[in-house]
Amino acid sequence: SIPIYTTIAAYREWRRKAFEEHKSVGFVATMGALHEGHLSLVKRSLAENDLTVVSIFVNPAQFAPHEDLATYPRTLPQDLDLLSAQSSVVSNPESTEHTVTRKASAVFLPTVSEMYPSGISQDTVAQKGTFVEVKGYGHQMEGKSRPTFFRGVATVVTKLFNAIEPTNAYFGQKDIQQALLLKRLSRDLLLSHPDQNHIHIVPTARDPSSDLALSSRNAYLTQDGQKVASTLREALKAAETAWDQGATKAECVQKAIKVIDAKRASALSEGLDVDMRLDYVELNNSEDFEVVDAHARRSETGSHPVILSGALWVDKTRLIDNIILGDA
Ligand code: PAJ
Repeated sequence: SIPIYTTIAAYREWRRKAFEEHKSVGFVATMGALHEGHLSLVKRSLAENDLTVVSIFVNPAQFAPHEDLATYPRTLPQDLDLLSAQSSVVSNPESTEHTVTRKASAVFLPTVSEMYPSGISQDTVAQKGTFVEVKGYGHQMEGKSRPTFFRGVATVVTKLFNAIEPTNAYFGQKDIQQALLLKRLSRDLLLSHPDQNHIHIVPTARDPSSDLALSSRNAYLTQDGQKVASTLREALKAAETAWDQGATKAECVQKAIKVIDAKRASALSEGLDVDMRLDYVELNNSEDFEVVDAHARRSETGSHPVILSGALWVDKTRLIDNIILGDA
């Protein structure tokens, strides 16, 4: 089974040996309740690094007081089984004839007090201590609905990078703003240098039949909720098609809303017991996350890709998804 490190001191012993042996270390940060989305990051890391570390830590600082910290799915035994079962066959760097099978080398499973030695309060106003904030990049998109979320993410990932000292780190496109914000953080705090902290973004893993983006929070969905969970994906696809056909941003957003309204109506007529509430559908510039002008069309959005993203409440479950729109 994979060695588990619950203290930073114990992990650092392991890391020191990897440095001495000049082995590259890939890193996948997670909050557990692992699924194929997380595993696709692990696969990339196994393929591209000598060693792979996966952290499992439900980070209190990224949950607002009213959010689901207490009920966030915690499935550690199953997570460890999934990680142990994951392997990647790569050609042996020492010989051209043989392949080697790589598996995750370490799990970092810290306690809250290990990660927050001065403590951490759920009251985001009263929170005292050291935080990392990527100013100007955490209040749009996901940050608009979750104002202290990215401060919590940036803080914990800085701590994780300091503890783990990865060569490469892998984040999912499912949380595109998070991944891009962490790239900026890594650059701005000089965490990235020739041997360390190269951030890679891995495409969103989806349920093969419904195209629903895999997420730990999907576990909250009721049976009826599961039946409508891919609505956001369908709405974003409709908006993408409209965008590609030359519609304005406002028209694309309208298209998405229409898809959601139609799905809500058909769910009602089928007698499904499910409540769908749109949080947002928006188009943002991938460089600064600023909102694309309502009248802008595909040909008018400048040199940076545009992110089409949304969040949809299905009962009490908040689902997110995004599409990076083709060349502007
Ligand atoms: P968590 O939601 O557990 O996700 C861990 C990583 O898996 C993130 O990089 C996320 O983008 C990626 N991921 C989740 N679902 C995915 C999917 N369907 N396809 C591809 N990648 C997917 O994101 C977090 O945890 C936390 O904010 C964290 C970065 C660990 C900091 O606490």
